[in-house]
Amino acid sequence: MHIAIIMDGNGRWAEQRSLPRSKGHEAGERALYEVVLAALELDIRYLSVYAFSTENWTRPDDEVEFLLNYNRDLLRQRRDEMKRRGVRMRRIGRRDPVPDEVLDEFDEAERVTAEGTNMDLLICFNYGGRAEIEDAAAAGPIRDNLYAPDVPDVDLLIRTSGERRLSNFLLWQSAYAELYFTDTLWPDFTPDALAEVLRDYQARDRRFGGL
Ligand code: FPP
Repeated sequence: MHIAIIMDGNGRWAEQRSLPRSKGHEAGERALYEVVLAALELDIRYLSVYAFSTENWTRPDDEVEFLLNYNRDLLRQRRDEMKRRGVRMRRIGRRDPVPDEVLDEFDEAERVTAEGTNMDLLICFNYGGRAEIEDAAAAGPIRDNLYAPDVPDVDLLIRTSGERRLSNFLLWQSAYAELYFTDTLWPDFTPDALAEVLRDYQARDRRFGGL
């Protein structure tokens, strides 16, 4: 099963507590870590998360700077544990204009965790769905040239914080995805919340255009 998550609402979570937005991203990372562990327990084979979109460059410089450095530090901190747990970390998205120091950490995390077979954690970073389709089409048949062509389509796409949009996330892969929207802000999304989403998903009738 492939679950994709738009981890939205970090900024609002922080603002509600009169904290800087960066504290919201830190709380969001802790939530992601817990969700990764829960997804492993639940035997979710593929998990894709939207960590930085091609549109996020338009945020204030200090927030962009924070997100870039923060992601770099995180990868360094978490990659050994992910390896122990059999999680293969993969970055998808355009490399340009991500700074080399950040790309190097992603490359290293991919190298260290390459043998993981329990879960593929796809970190969508400088990722845009249209950009991916354009890049793939320039290379040949689209399906074969996606950034991670071996990964199956998204089964379930979750977006937190009350927004009901796809925001250019995994457009090709989500053609038949079940969509789940919750008002919960991402830092408050717990393993229990994930279990609840899965119960809802399991009750759905997926027809893929048939009867
Ligand atoms: C959306 O909330 C969240 C982001 C732009 C960043 C998400 C990143 C993380 C949780 C860190 C994960 C790190 C790795 C390496 C996977 P927002 O800022 O748009 O919130 P708002 O809509 O309330 O302003």
